[in-house]
Amino acid sequence: MSSGVIQKDIKVRISVLEKFLNRIHNMDIYELLRLLPDRMIDCIYSDVDYNKGIVYEGKSYSKKFDHYISDYISLASESLRVLKDTGSAFFINYPKNNAFLWTRYLDDACFDVQEYVWTYNSNIGHSPNRFTTAHRSILHARKTKYSVFYKNNVAEPYINQSDKRIREKIKLGSKGRSPYSWFYADLVKNVSKQHKRIDHPCVIPDKISSLLIKSVTSPGDIVLILFAGSGSEIDVCRKLDRQWISAELNEGYCEQIEKRLDNKILTFEELNNDTGKKL
Ligand SMILES: C[S@@+](CC[C@H](N)C(=O)[O-])C[C@H]1O[C@@H](n2cnc3c(N)ncnc32)[C@H](O)[C@@H]1O
Repeated sequence: MSSGVIQKDIKVRISVLEKFLNRIHNMDIYELLRLLPDRMIDCIYSDVDYNKGIVYEGKSYSKKFDHYISDYISLASESLRVLKDTGSAFFINYPKNNAFLWTRYLDDACFDVQEYVWTYNSNIGHSPNRFTTAHRSILHARKTKYSVFYKNNVAEPYINQSDKRIREKIKLGSKGRSPYSWFYADLVKNVSKQHKRIDHPCVIPDKISSLLIKSVTSPGDIVLILFAGSGSEIDVCRKLDRQWISAELNEGYCEQIEKRLDNKILTFEELNNDTGKKL
């Protein structure tokens, strides 16, 4: 697509989606999805509840496994409906839940599905009888063969830059090699300074969400963050100059996000840089 066509396409989508854009919606994501028209979103980012009984401000989610998977499939199906044909969806979850989503639904519904892994150190869940679980699954669903991937947005520098073939690739515009399918990042909860200021039990590190979002979007594109949680991915979108739409059931978390959007609380990056600023 020429840049003129791209500009026109984004203008049309902005006018259709205006009332939803760059706002946190205190509502059920299934309701919000129903209000969104077909094929308008560049990237879906899903960090759903994992059905492990985690308590979010007094509310815990635990469903029978089949019920959970059937809801997860409905969520993915509605998400793909609103996704552009050039778009991608990311589904973060524990491996078993993602295995069912992948094999029971995504394989047939999408052009291509890849699995990535986020690994972290953990000081809980150790057992003498098995290895300690310290990773999450991330499914990357490419809706059609036209789904874009911006390798240069996430490329890692080539190691041997003096190699003749590498020099040739750099000359042709390559910024490096694609990262591997596994990413290491520390957990936020109980580990980083982010956690001390942000009241939420399962925050995804900015390093993970920004890598995923950058890989399939450009500045100005629209990301649908299905579950806002602490607002960490919203903050990442703002920093990356991506537009966003998001829902969160919990009123308290929504208020926290609103404050964050007004810059009344420090961003994760500022906290991690330990700038010494106070709230
Ligand atoms: C796993 S957390 C997301 C955390 C987020 N990735 C972050 O880094 O802060 C899931 C969030 O979804 C919210 N939630 C659960 N069911 C929901 C629904 N049906 N619609 C909207 N939000 C929901 C929960 O309150 C919780 O905050």
